[in-house]
Amino acid sequence: MPRQVLVIGAGVTGLSCAIRLQEAGCIVTILAKDFPAPFPTIDPLAQINYTSPWGGAHNRWVVPSPSGENAREHAFALATFSRMRALAESEPSVGITFMKGIEYLEAPPAEYTSLTPHRAAELQLPGFRLLGKEEFPDDKITWGCEYDTWSLNPMVYCSFLLGRFTFRGGQIRKRELKDIKEVFALPLGELGFEAGRIDAVVNASGYGFGGDPNMFITKGQTCLVANECDVTVTRQNADGSWNFSVPRGFNGGTIIGGTKDVDDWNTKPSIEIREKLLAGFRATYPKILGEAGEYRVLADIVGRRPTRKGGPRIEGEVVSGGGFVMHAYGLGGRGYELSWGVAEEVVKGVDGHLKGHPKGRVASETVAKCHL
Ligand SMILES: Cc1cc2nc3c(=O)[nH]c(=O)nc-3n(C[C@H](O)[C@H](O)[C@H](O)COP(=O)(O)OP(=O)(O)OC[C@H]3O[C@@H](n4cnc5c(N)ncnc54)[C@H](O)[C@@H]3O)c2cc1C
Ligand SMILES: *[C@@H]1O[C@H](CO)[C@@H](O)[C@H](O)[C@H]1NC(C)=O
Ligand SMILES: *[C@@H]1O[C@H](CO)[C@@H](O)[C@H](O)[C@H]1NC(C)=O
Ligand SMILES: *[C@@H]1O[C@H](CO)[C@@H](O)[C@H](O)[C@H]1NC(C)=O
Repeated sequence: MPRQVLVIGAGVTGLSCAIRLQEAGCIVTILAKDFPAPFPTIDPLAQINYTSPWGGAHNRWVVPSPSGENAREHAFALATFSRMRALAESEPSVGITFMKGIEYLEAPPAEYTSLTPHRAAELQLPGFRLLGKEEFPDDKITWGCEYDTWSLNPMVYCSFLLGRFTFRGGQIRKRELKDIKEVFALPLGELGFEAGRIDAVVNASGYGFGGDPNMFITKGQTCLVANECDVTVTRQNADGSWNFSVPRGFNGGTIIGGTKDVDDWNTKPSIEIREKLLAGFRATYPKILGEAGEYRVLADIVGRRPTRKGGPRIEGEVVSGGGFVMHAYGLGGRGYELSWGVAEEVVKGVDGHLKGHPKGRVASETVAKCHL
């Protein structure tokens, strides 16, 4: 009998895991409080904890340090990149656009200054090129590069994933839980399963449940403008602040960002910050204004990145009562760019657990190959 897996969460993490589990032959139901919907219908206050609509979302290659920090995440980003490429090529309306990414740094740390074309090739960074001084926007920038990357329209993309999931027979339940363990007590029929038992629960709840003391939020304020942008630009300033653009495509405009405020639960966007972001980005990339010569502001955005000290938690746990929970949360500011790598790890974890490996962490050679 096929395995029955319940995924909690319908952000980019839960949706990607659910599709990947279906591909591995599981019967999957997604239970969540929030589901993807057209972006203008998402409520900025009532749904502020649902991070996926508020994200950029682009892929910015984060260079692993020589000591191996970020190496696991880099492997996830590479896996995600190839699947995004295949999706963009086969599904024109998926919401993904491939483009150049540009990085400008005022005070580059060692992993950037040692990023030669040779090192970039080792890291499999596609289309990598170091920029010359004459290509920098001003003389505060001391290092720059460009590469091939993707950017997407979050609610177009997540709605596509949800559509694919249900088209393949996946069931959804729109519910709010107080505690994950509740699901083991629910009647199976209510969750869309036949008989038997729930073989695994995937915890892709973002910042939905308390319990993990390592979780915190990183507030981000960005501004959505109607101006189109042909590249995704990231500037890292010496004072630790950032200026970036994330084109959404598909009539989604462009995100101009952005702040990273740890433990800041304020829900209200600041007009002063908006003006700084817009001015800061215009100075870095004047082409953003286009023929109109000015910004057309659509909305101020506040989102909460579900961040975790020690990095994302992607591991299995047998909870009290005996149920198996495969965790997939704490993706911080990288949920989209790591999504398919995380989903692959979740399939391996579930498969490993059901084959009797402790904590479900052992990879299995029998995990079904990924089909698009
Ligand atoms: C300003 C900003 C810019 C960003 N830019 C980028 C970017 O460029 N690239 C990138 O990769 N990432 C970016 N991110 C990060 C990215 O948006 C997140 O990492 C990602 O959306 C997290 O997805 P998730 O599925 O893990 O969580 P969420 O999207 O928060 O989903 C959680 C799910 O769990 C459900 N849930 C939670 N609690 C309960 C409960 N009690 N009962 C039932 N259901 C529950 C929710 O309803 C929801 O369906 C950005 C984030 C912000 C805020
Ligand atoms: C968001 O999450 C926090 C922390 O769990 C909670 O206090 C708050 O009520 C939530 N907000 C909404 C609108 O659900
Ligand atoms: C599930 O995820 C949340 C983060 O949303 C975490 O705090 C919690 O410890 C996880 N596990 C359980 C069993 O709830
Ligand atoms: C970048 O944005 C910050 C706000 O986060 C702003 O204070 C600063 O002026 C901007 N700087 C540049 C040069 O882009």
